[in-house]
Amino acid sequence: MNPALIGLLIQVNAGFFAWLLLWYLGSPLIWWWPLQALGALLLSVVARQPRWWWLINASFVPAVVLALRLDWPPWLYLLAFVFAWLLFGRIDRSRVPLYLSNRAALRALDNLVPEQGKVLDLGAGTGTVLAWLGRRADIQVEGVEHAWLTWLIARLRLVLKGSKAKVWRGELMQAPLADYDVVYAFLSPAAMPALWAKAKREMSSGSLLVSNTFEVPGVPADKVIELNDWKGASLYLWRMP
Ligand SMILES: C[S@@+](CC[C@H](N)C(=O)[O-])C[C@H]1O[C@@H](n2cnc3c(N)ncnc32)[C@H](O)[C@@H]1O
Repeated sequence: MNPALIGLLIQVNAGFFAWLLLWYLGSPLIWWWPLQALGALLLSVVARQPRWWWLINASFVPAVVLALRLDWPPWLYLLAFVFAWLLFGRIDRSRVPLYLSNRAALRALDNLVPEQGKVLDLGAGTGTVLAWLGRRADIQVEGVEHAWLTWLIARLRLVLKGSKAKVWRGELMQAPLADYDVVYAFLSPAAMPALWAKAKREMSSGSLLVSNTFEVPGVPADKVIELNDWKGASLYLWRMP
């Protein structure tokens, strides 16, 4: 089940049980929201939610209480929503947030792109990978990004650097993959099954799919490169048959 839906169920149940407990004990309702937050945390653990959902579930109602107390004008929330949409795109659909490849990943990826090769960054973010690989004169570097502001930052970054790398705005699932020697993705576990199906359909024989951090469920990688960074991340490599 979608974690956001589980989160909603947890909020409602924790709220109900907190209210029931206070009613039973005859305690003042002022204790409702700390109890609700504690209940949401416990239910997240019991429901075996990923750890970062523990934090989201536990802090949801306290954040609402805080927001009500701050009494900010409603347009500020609308502005924050629009900004988040511009930066992250339809994250509710893609379930891929924005985080950037680090130096270790960039160096390892650089070594994987052959001379005269063509590489595509699926979900190019702010152009970190494109700017790095774009310094190489012997390869073609391209990327696709769906979030408007993120794409614009990547585009400006490449223009200001005078980079020959290209980034276009669009949906990664619609990017044709047949022409690339290396396709790089740093997405999320949720995106991997569909990406693998697309790679198998479209990528040419001998080309390389590289995923930063996230494996394809049930498809062991042909090679794993440890990045030895603070996250203990790896690059997973699949050579297309
Ligand atoms: C984790 S970031 C990686 C950014 C960059 N590739 C890097 O390694 O630094 C993933 C990016 O993919 C973008 N993205 C997610 N789903 C997408 C989709 N369906 N089509 C295009 N871009 C997408 C996100 O907006 C985000 O910028």
